[in-house]
Amino acid sequence: MINQTINHSIHQTHLRQDPWKLDAVLPIDHQIAPHYFTKAPTGVWENFTRLLSRDIFSEADAQILYDHLMQRQDEFSDEFLAMLQVWLIDELKHYEALRRTYHCISGVSFAEMNRLFADRVHEIKPIERVLVDEFTILVTMMFDEIGSVYSYRRDLREYYCHFGREIQKIGHHLVQDEGRHFSNAAELLLSHHRDRLDHIEPLLHDIAHLEDRLGTYYKSFFLDHAQEQFRFPPNFNAVIIQVILARLGLASYPDAKAVKELWQWVPADG
Ligand SMILES: [Fe+2]
Ligand SMILES: [Fe+2]
Repeated sequence: MINQTINHSIHQTHLRQDPWKLDAVLPIDHQIAPHYFTKAPTGVWENFTRLLSRDIFSEADAQILYDHLMQRQDEFSDEFLAMLQVWLIDELKHYEALRRTYHCISGVSFAEMNRLFADRVHEIKPIERVLVDEFTILVTMMFDEIGSVYSYRRDLREYYCHFGREIQKIGHHLVQDEGRHFSNAAELLLSHHRDRLDHIEPLLHDIAHLEDRLGTYYKSFFLDHAQEQFRFPPNFNAVIIQVILARLGLASYPDAKAVKELWQWVPADG
């Protein structure tokens, strides 16, 4: 029944999907050849382990946000709900992909990861002001997903690429999927919320401001980049806001150098 609903709405809204198979990319019993650990540059393994210990759970937090939104499903369009189902399937696949990656990299067991996830406290209230309605959720989704595109792109270059083809491929899929989530949200805004396009720029500044003000991640999926800000250039949000506006035809794209800096910038002390 769910599949029928999704297929129907995909047809109507050109929802883009890529049902890549995790088992074909990174089987659950995959082991990383020992030479990758010895050849990786100093500090890469430690930093990758620390990053994964957080990233895996942010992906699983998608379920928390989804469950909250489903309690309000009468407020939303069928196309939005169909998009959300496709999005959740992808995010949960990311969770499983990162669990496998984390297990291979650090040896932490799946049972321990289950325990760590069960101990998390998720709060919706701090991000309530971006969840007002379908429109604000879509704009926040664009902000969050494009931020994920550039942060995974950076992670791919700094970490995933050092641990073999399979792990590198996971990084590629993450970048591509987050880019598609960004684009699906853009298409829905353009098809269903054209009358509110002028509100997008101030709302994006409001979202960036809220992220700064919160300064921490409340484990409800959105605004999870606060915890990694030190790895990104200070103008990160300003550039991604311009990318979002450009995707919606509301501004020109930032210059290629500014975009490249999002994932290649090196901190002064790094
Ligand atoms: Fe994801
Ligand atoms: Fe995503």
